[in-house]
Amino acid sequence: MTDPTWWRQAAVYQIYPRSFSDSNGDGIGDLKGITAKVPYLQALGIDAVWLSPFYPSALADGGYDVDDYRNVDPKLGTLADFDEMTAALHAAGIKLIADIVPNHSSNRHEWFKEALASPKGSAARARYIFRDGKGENGELPPADWTSVFGGPAWERTTEADGTPGQWYMHIFAKEQPDLNWDNPEVREDFLTTLKFWSDRGVDGFRIDVAHALSKDLSEPLPMTAELGVEGQLLDGSHPFWDRDEVHGIYAEWRKLFNQYTPPRTAVAEAWVHASRRARYASPDGLGQAFNFDLLQADFDAGQFRTIITKNLAEAQATGASSTWVFSNHDVVRHATRYGLPSAAEAGNIKPGLGQDGKAWLLAGGKPGEVDVELGLARARAATALLLALPGSAYLYNGEELGLQEAGEIPESERQDPAFFRNPGVDIGRDGCRVPLPWTAEGTSFGFGDGGAHLPQPEWFAEYAASAQNGVDGSTLEFYRRALELRHELQSAETQEWVTSPADVLHFTRPGGWQSVTNFSSEPVDLPAGTVVLSSAPLVGGKLPANTTAWLV
Ligand code: BGC
Repeated sequence: MTDPTWWRQAAVYQIYPRSFSDSNGDGIGDLKGITAKVPYLQALGIDAVWLSPFYPSALADGGYDVDDYRNVDPKLGTLADFDEMTAALHAAGIKLIADIVPNHSSNRHEWFKEALASPKGSAARARYIFRDGKGENGELPPADWTSVFGGPAWERTTEADGTPGQWYMHIFAKEQPDLNWDNPEVREDFLTTLKFWSDRGVDGFRIDVAHALSKDLSEPLPMTAELGVEGQLLDGSHPFWDRDEVHGIYAEWRKLFNQYTPPRTAVAEAWVHASRRARYASPDGLGQAFNFDLLQADFDAGQFRTIITKNLAEAQATGASSTWVFSNHDVVRHATRYGLPSAAEAGNIKPGLGQDGKAWLLAGGKPGEVDVELGLARARAATALLLALPGSAYLYNGEELGLQEAGEIPESERQDPAFFRNPGVDIGRDGCRVPLPWTAEGTSFGFGDGGAHLPQPEWFAEYAASAQNGVDGSTLEFYRRALELRHELQSAETQEWVTSPADVLHFTRPGGWQSVTNFSSEPVDLPAGTVVLSSAPLVGGKLPANTTAWLV
């Protein structure tokens, strides 16, 4: 029987399905493509796959605009393909975590179409957030709030007779109308969705923008100047970010999750103040919440030490398991971040303009802008450190290849709404979503037979899985070995710091497992023990700069 705590220290691998592997040559990755790669995933040594949205979608936001929560996008396959993929993963001992997007549907969802076709004040409109506009003829939005992707957070509708109508709220793109979570029908429908996938064998859920569902939109709506900043409020007083009531929703979900054996797991994507994160990770709630603190830090021993100490103490106090992550589909790949011109920019997770105004990713992360070698060395060191920590490790597809951000995507081929809604400011997230290189040669580097929906740069060839397979010292072999060892060495969820110079982080785990990371620019001595893993070769028995070693 499955250990019900399997998720607490799992290595979870995020698949961005449209960019992973394309089985039918239409340029878009699909579920059959994933099934075909199950042996690769098994050899990698992960415990679970987190699958980003695979539902029918017009891709206004990479699939986070869902048309139908209980189906598979025909471009990605069928429900039968989904079942086949789930069975193959399970047969390989890999769990499946599905991404759920409850804050908003797409504007093509049946409910939203019905809302637009229905009159003001109707039950159909009450599933979303509709308001009259301000101004003499309702021509101004109900509030001046901006969407996360830039531009207004309200869109005006057009009535059936062509006249301008009410406005609806969208925290993200205008194709992503926010659902009204005060409406019992919305709550009930999501329970049906969670049950639908749980019954199909999904082992857990990743909850998209988990901190936005509950809203207090009582009039008068406050103006932006009166609002606090997302992720920084301590009292739940923002009209839509991180309100206390949201935990009532997750308590209901938990009851459903616990009806399964083992209980379904969940992880919240909640960009909230660290002190409020534990509520999402409570055993009565979702159980786990992403901790993005390390992801936002520079490659700096002091910052890493403080964040790790704080998060482990928090986890221990609340009984939650820690989560660690460096890369995902929303941020610049960490092999590139850590190679940015100045250390101060390593924490710059959003693609865009550098602090000196230089468009480092607009310039494509091209040579001269990013120190690729340094970035990769630091990324490998950071990953080895992360994999030695107690708690769950979340990895993003392609990082096991040491893949860099693909910055040189022409404007005409970009897809991310963040790019279109923020001209000249935000380059968008396409650079970490380019289809993976499986082979050094061949169409689309082995991604599929029919091209790739985002252009792959030529330098992808050197990162191809086939070029690294079985190659001593390659990033792929390094990840495989690290994950294999982690399985062998992982035990109780505790960690202890060992006194070390300020720019070295040294800690032990139960059973004599030690991890040492050298953040300085000079080689340092290693402690006593046998080195079982090193993110770069040792030099004269010493640990080089930007390297992590594990010892037993
Ligand atoms: C997802 C993003 C998405 C947004 C809106 C996020 O937090 O990770 O990719 O654009 O939610 O759904």
